[in-house]
Amino acid sequence: MNVPKTWIFDLDGVIVETAQFHYKSWKRLAHSLDIPFDESHNEALKGVSRSKSLNIILELDDREVSEKEFQRLMDKKNGWYQNYIAELTPDDILDGIPEFLDTLKERGAKLAIGSSSKNAQYILDYLQLTETFDAIIDGTKVKNTKPDPEVFLKGAQAVGEDPEDCVVFEDAESGVEAANRANMLCVGVGSEEILGDADLVIDSFVDMSPEDLLEKLS
Ligand code: G6P
Ligand code: MG
Repeated sequence: MNVPKTWIFDLDGVIVETAQFHYKSWKRLAHSLDIPFDESHNEALKGVSRSKSLNIILELDDREVSEKEFQRLMDKKNGWYQNYIAELTPDDILDGIPEFLDTLKERGAKLAIGSSSKNAQYILDYLQLTETFDAIIDGTKVKNTKPDPEVFLKGAQAVGEDPEDCVVFEDAESGVEAANRANMLCVGVGSEEILGDADLVIDSFVDMSPEDLLEKLS
């Protein structure tokens, strides 16, 4: 294993628990359309784009809508979602992450964000984390979202790193697949059952130093 020089973090569900805001907003939209939607449908929405998410929801009930209506539904969901994220503060950064990022910075590692979200920059600003990262690749900068590897390959490219020298942190099945396709090491953050294709799965960053993690990976 190459010791990673660049550490690429997914945002939603890894740095901050915004996955619940996406879920609540999609649920509200689905229910307004009389489409049954609960936690069991939600896993497939993690890591994928806003439009793919809406397609998945509409397919649950074989619905077809016009392009204009599709855009209106995405905007409605995003409005609700943006109301939630506007409340975020640095206190919402997930436990263990600030220490983990600080240690990496002290060691001179390069840090990047690899997120499918078009709201990533707002979230990083609310969390006061924008300056922490050397590169921020988000849904506004890629054509193909996860499981396509584009977001991570662009992250590596932005800091001048080879993919083999990068490690990715992901909470979504689609993100683990993207990291594998990018030929990068991958650490799943969450459940082994869902993220089993990662090189290592951890519960959280609490009491986890970069050294602990490298030892587990090797
Ligand atoms: C992240 C989340 C997905 C979300 C996607 C797009 O990857 O995990 O659940 O659909 O971003 O988010 P956006 O903020 O652009 O609607
Ligand atoms: Mg995520």
